[in-house]
Order: sequence, then structure tokens, then C-alpha cells
Amino acid sequence: SGAHRKRRRLPSAEESESSEASEPDDAPAVEQTGAGAGPAAAHLPPAPLQAGDQSPEPGTQPPPAATPAPPAAPAVFVPVNRSPEMQEERLKLPILSEEQVIMEAVAEHPIVIVCGETGSGKTTQVPQFLYEAGYSSDSSIIGITEPRRVAAIAMSQRVAKEMNLSQRVVSYQIRYEGNVTEDTRIKFMTDGVLLKEIQKDFLLLRYKVVIIDEAHERSVYTDILIGLLSRIVSLRAKRHLPLKLLIMSATLRVEDFTQNQRLFAQPPPVIKVESRQFPVTVHFNKRTPLEDYSGECFRKVCKIHRMLPAGGILVFLTGQAEVHALCRRLRKAFPPARARPQERQDQEDSVEETRKYKKSRARAKKARAEALPQINLDHYSVLPAGEGDEDREAEMDDEEGAVGSDLELDLGDDGADEGEQPDTSLPLHVLLLYSLLAPEKQAQVFKPPPEGTRLCVVATNVAETSLTIPGIKYVVDCGKVKKRYYDRVTGVSSFRVTWVSQASADQRAGRAGRTEPGHCYRLYSSAVFGDFEQFPPPEITRRPVEDLILQMKALNIEKVINFPFPTPPSVDALIAAEELLIALGALQAPQKTERVKQLQSSRLSRPITALGRTMAAFPVAPRYAKMLALSRQHGCLPFAITIVAAMTVRELFEELDRPAASEEELARLKGRRARVAQMKRTWAGQGASLKLGDLMVLLGAVGACEYAGCTPQFCEANGLRYKAILETRRLRGQLTTAVNAVCPEASLFMDPKMQPPTESQVTYLRQIVTAGLGDHLARRVQSEELLDAKWRNAYKTPLLDDPVFIHPSSVLFKELPEFVVYQEIVETTKMYMKGVCAVEMQWIPTLLPSYCQFDKPLEEPAPAYCAETGRVLCHRASTFYRVGWPLPAVQVD
Ligand code: CDP
Ligand code: MG
Repeated sequence: SGAHRKRRRLPSAEESESSEASEPDDAPAVEQTGAGAGPAAAHLPPAPLQAGDQSPEPGTQPPPAATPAPPAAPAVFVPVNRSPEMQEERLKLPILSEEQVIMEAVAEHPIVIVCGETGSGKTTQVPQFLYEAGYSSDSSIIGITEPRRVAAIAMSQRVAKEMNLSQRVVSYQIRYEGNVTEDTRIKFMTDGVLLKEIQKDFLLLRYKVVIIDEAHERSVYTDILIGLLSRIVSLRAKRHLPLKLLIMSATLRVEDFTQNQRLFAQPPPVIKVESRQFPVTVHFNKRTPLEDYSGECFRKVCKIHRMLPAGGILVFLTGQAEVHALCRRLRKAFPPARARPQERQDQEDSVEETRKYKKSRARAKKARAEALPQINLDHYSVLPAGEGDEDREAEMDDEEGAVGSDLELDLGDDGADEGEQPDTSLPLHVLLLYSLLAPEKQAQVFKPPPEGTRLCVVATNVAETSLTIPGIKYVVDCGKVKKRYYDRVTGVSSFRVTWVSQASADQRAGRAGRTEPGHCYRLYSSAVFGDFEQFPPPEITRRPVEDLILQMKALNIEKVINFPFPTPPSVDALIAAEELLIALGALQAPQKTERVKQLQSSRLSRPITALGRTMAAFPVAPRYAKMLALSRQHGCLPFAITIVAAMTVRELFEELDRPAASEEELARLKGRRARVAQMKRTWAGQGASLKLGDLMVLLGAVGACEYAGCTPQFCEANGLRYKAILETRRLRGQLTTAVNAVCPEASLFMDPKMQPPTESQVTYLRQIVTAGLGDHLARRVQSEELLDAKWRNAYKTPLLDDPVFIHPSSVLFKELPEFVVYQEIVETTKMYMKGVCAVEMQWIPTLLPSYCQFDKPLEEPAPAYCAETGRVLCHRASTFYRVGWPLPAVQVD
């Protein structure tokens, strides 16, 4: 679209600084293969500090001038009582031969980087090395961060088992859940958890070592943690309480860490773990299936299972729903064999799941037949039975054997013996793996499959580097990944399925060569592969950063521009974030009297407000955090929590706008859509309640669903996504805990079955929502502006030049209130606002003064909220004011 963001561009501090910055020290990564030799980087003189780095905030202190560190390696050796079998298994891991090199580097350097292929043993072994070397003696903790919850839980369990220790000693902590005790010595956690701990104790005094795992993923929190820890390490050295930082990466691409003087004045040594990777033969498809990669996966797995010798299969898909669908389909095609007693439970679990699903479907169908006979729920069977069987043979010659020359894979010609007698009767042991799967179920992929079966794991990206599944010989890669995509115009995110990078595709292929030579089937052509990006860009450069900036300001890092990001976000992104946070009241606004020059120098260094600190304590985006911070009045908290939870979970309702494959399906979809529209109208109600619009629908849907016992049947009958409802409930619990932590007097109790809000509560909720979504304000175009038809029923927003419209799925689609706020804009045929709530014009000057230009001062002082009481002020201002930039003046009263 021709939409663009209207934003002034100020000369950026970053640009002027980088032009002065000296060339990075050219000491490259040190490849360390032989034991004994000290890392070369140890002999480098300390690099001079940069003037640009000087800043008064504690969080951005430059590293101290080479304080001679006291001998850091603890002398104690802590014995571990491993079982002989475990010890034998460990000795097979490549990282074991590097133990001495790693431990010497850690003893000599405050910061060490360890690179090694996935499966080489980094995550499970390095914490054990440190434990044995006494880094957790005198009740210190060895901390290790993972970007994913799955990995934090699975790895803590695995390491406890390997070390023969209980989970009281080797524990995990993820957001609001964990088994940490006072005996904990090795603590696996998500990166967000460590960030929160830094907010409480900046020096992280409980830890002697912090390991940042999966640093190659370049998740924003990992990047921020590395930046923060670079400073914490120096501060701790100054106090003679040395902290060791280990950064672990599955790739050798670590220049952003080693060649970044702002981050580490002295490049840390890089220890490379040689791994035994067996050759993997890569097979590309001749052509690239456009849509149905799921179906293509199914056909490929069937073919491998029927034609190729024993060996586990790992399939990469993009999301949970796809994973479930393919599993069901495979289990149907290859029913589980008579399970041996000890394996029966595993099998029963999966059969039980399918049975429950079928039963619930049948029951819902019956209920529907009685109540609303015209609606057929069969659209659920997205994978019609039998499909695929006929054309399987035709697909047999799809492989080309062509291989991209830039693949780092050895392509030995030991290709699979396709002529070998296929064993079509062999049962397929199908398991699924994705982030939100229950931990017990995740753990199953590490167990050997029942004898006489072939393992087939259908996974999302989790299996790419975080978890190594044993016994995989065949990888089926759909080549896609589901990524959060951020619209630069509206700053709102959505998930999109896109092609992976070449580096990710190679990581996926590598999963097939862990234990023996393997094969990777790529469901796309080599030409398509050639067009992939080489590496995924670091997340921080792809997304708005207001949540990060708020977290950093809460750590008293005021000059974010000086922060040693491994890769800094763009100055535009930083300015946009700071502007939004100022508008939300989370950062101090510049004084009216400040001169332009002062303004520019204070840009990107505004301090946090009390409201901002409260907002930073909520694990949701700042716009939503503002709503929560305002809601402790008139009993609004439980409702605001529910609305925020449902908005954060997103897509509470099923996607019914998808194209239909047949006339029949179209009719079904239409029926479903009509039913959902009717339910939405019911939940939205009339009068005051309807004005809360789509947010009232969210509230009503969650409330009704909880009253109905929160069953899959209820969800199915009303077009709600059961998973999203459960997630909403979980998040409501978390947010209730967070609110109680910030404000114990609230003594909030999370009652899933809340009563509906009263009429006046609904009005307060609308004001709270308006205060949070202020930058998403839109005004209906007035009749005299209706110069051309494209503006009929259109709205104007400060951010876009193009007209925007209320989405047809919104309950306010026909209401057309003059002012609305929206959750997000999606662009399809037009720009559509979703999650719409009506706003009263007279609220705007009081709730959103920063978006107004006043011709004369308001008669009353007009804070949007009162910081002390957190109360939303609602009064009518009898004055002229203008709202936002593109909107004409209006008169109130
Ligand atoms: O971190 P990195 O990818 O280098 O390897 P790791 O996760 O430490 O895994 C080392 C080995 O332990 C792999 O061969 C895994 O298959 C195995 N492992 C396991 O058998 N069970 C687990 N729960 C976790 C890992
Ligand atoms: Mg790992």
C-alpha cells in the first residue's frame, strides 16, 4: 500500500557516534581444537574504552580499566555420582574432549564463547563441568538461559538425571512456574526470567556463572541479556566478586559478539567443539508445492516409511495445528501395533486423544443437529480420509538428488538402499513436539520407540536446534517457519508462514546425521532454496521495541542509544518506541519549555515514571500494561485482565474467512460464519455494552465459555478456539499474580467464572481501553470530506494516509461510531481495523491529551489519569480542541 509513516527524522546519536568509532579490533574468533593451548585472545592488550560509552547510568557503565581479576577458578572439586551407563553415554559426546579447554578458558577469562553443532552436548554438559569445578559451591547458582520454555524444562530434567541429583538441585524456572528450591545449584530458565531477576538484583549476586544458551538464535531477550551481562561482569570484577559469562551458539557466526567493541572491550575467546556429523544427502523436490506442504509431508513420510530402511523420521512443520493434523493423519494411515505393556501408556495417550476428539466432535454434532440443524461441523476434517494414497506412487520420482553447492553437508553416495525390501507392516510410532506441549509428552521423544516400530516425530521449529532427538535418519523439511511479523506502519504483530533461511534449512538437514548417515527431503526446489536469505536477521531488527525499551528503562538504563546491543535496533524504531512510551505516560514527557536543542539531546534518554515502573511489572505489551495499571478502580481489574489476556492470546475465534475448496464447504463455512456472527452479537449486547465493541465480545466469550465449563464442545459450537481459551485462562492467572505482586492490597482472586460487568463498569473499561490504545485512535470521515467513494464509511488515523475501515467481523461494523480505538490493522483488500471499541469524543482531551492540540488551555488541568490514585478522570471539557494531526477541529458541547 502507499501508506507511510509520517515521522520526523532527527539526527541520530548513533550515526554520529559510529562515524567516530574506531575500527573493531581485528582479533578474530580463536578456533580452539587441541587441549592445553591457551586461547590466543588472552594475550591481547585490553582495548581502549570509547568515549561514546561513558554514561552515568549504572546499567551502562563502561567496563573498568583492567582490574587484575583475582584467581577465579574455585579450587574445590565437587564429585558427581553418575551411573556407569550414563557416564558411558556422556563420553560419546564431542564436548567431553573439550572439557579441559573450556574450563581453562573460563578460569582465565570473564567471558567465553562456546560454539558447537546441535547435539554436541553444550546444554547438558557445560553446566555439569562448571558444577564439578566448584562454581556452585558456597550456595552460588550456575544459571543457564534458554529462549524456549520447552528447552528449560527438558534440559533441567535431563541434567538432573545424568548427575543423579534431584530436581531440588537441578531446577528450572519459567514465567510463574518452576521447581527452584534453596538447594538449587544449576538453574535452567527462560531468558525473560533472568531479565526480571536483573531488575531485582542488578549484580546477580546469587550467580557465579551465567550461561546464555542458543545465542545464535538472536532472540531479543538473548541479545539484551548479553548486552546487560557485559556490564554486570565488569561491575562484579570491580567488586572482586567475579561473574563468569558463557555464551553458547550452535553456529560459528558470532562476529556480532566478538567484533563489537562496545559490547566487549576485549574479544572473548571462542572455543569450537568439533562434532561428528555424519553425511546427510539432501534431496530437493523438482517443483515447489504452493499451498499444501502438509499434504506433501504426509506423502513423503508414507513413502519413506514404506520404501526406506529403518531409522527415525523427523518432520518440520510450522505450527501446532499442522503438527496435530499430520499426526492424526499418520496415525490413521499406520495404526499403532499391539503395544507392549510398558509402551501401552504412550500409545493409549495418543489413541485416547484421538478418541476424545472424535467423541467430542460426535457429541457437538448431535447437539448442533438438535439446536441448529443447518450447521455442519465437518469443516474440521481438513484432511479428508484416503486422500494422498492414490497419488503416492506418482510422487515417487519427485526427488532430484540435486544439491546446493553451498551446503556444508558431505554428500557421500551412500544413498539409501531404495531397493531394499520395504516392510509395509512395520508400525509407525508417531509423536508430536511443539513448544506448548505438556512436558511429559515432550519427554517421550527422547525414549526409544517400541521395538519393531519406526519413530516419526512431527515437530515445529523447536527441533531445529533446541532439542536433539536421538535416532533420526530422515528429515522431511517443509521449508517454512511461522514467524511473528511486525507491520512497520501500525507496529502491530501477526504470525506469518514464510520460507526459512538457508542456515535454518541446513540446521534442519543436520538433524538427520547425528548417529549415522542420513537423508533430508526438502519439499521445495533447489532454485527456491537459492533464493532464501542466508541467515535470519536478528529479531531485534525486525520488531518494534517499546516493550524492551520499557524493560530497560525499568533497569534505569536511560540512554538506550548507548546500550551495547549486539546488533542495535534502528534509530527510527527507538524513537517510535520512546514516543509511544511518553504518550502512555511510562516515560517523562519533555517539558513545554524545553528548547529544541535540549529536546534533541534528551531524546532517547527520558527517565521512567512511577506508572512506567508499574507497567514494566506486567508481562504484556506496554499498551496493555497501561490498561492494567489503570484498572484498579470500580472493580474493573478482573475484566481488564480478561480483555488484555484475550487480546494478547489473539485469534480467540476460529478463522472462518478462509477460501473454501468446494461449494459444499462454502455452504458449511457460511453457516458457521452466521452462527459466530450471531453469538458475537449476543455477547456484545446492546447500548453501553455494545460500545465496548469487540472487546465486549472477548469478555462475553471468555465469560460464557467459563460458565459452560470451558469444554471443547462449547468452543466448537461457538467458533472459539479451545486452545486459545485455555491459554487465555492461563494468562488470566498469570496476570492476576502479577497484579497482586505489584499491588498486594488488590488481593485479587482469579475466579474463572466472573459475573458480567455492570453498565458503568463497561463505560470505565472503555475509558481504560482508550487510554491504552490511544495511538490507535481513528475518526470517521465527515460527510463533507466524502469527495470520493473510496472514503465511504472510512476512518482516518494519525498514522496512515489511506482510509481504514472497520472489519466486517466486528460487531461495530454497522454501528460506525465517530471515534474508535482499534487493536490492530490488517490489510487484505482494504485496511481493516480489528478489535474495535467506540470512544466518546469528550474523553479524548482528558484521556489522551498528548494526541490533542489545544487552541486554548483546558479549564481544568487534564491529566489522563491521576498517578497517585490511578483513577481515570472523566469530565466534559467545554473548549475547542483538535484531535491528532489529520483530523479537523471539532467542538464539544
Ligand atoms: O546443546 P547441544 O545441542 O550441544 O546438545 P545437548 O542438548 O546437550 O544434547 C546432548 C545429547 O544428549 C544429545 O545427543 C541428545 O540426544 C541427548 N539428550 C537426551 O538423550 N535426552 C534429553 N532429554 C536431552 C538430551
Ligand atoms: Mg543446546
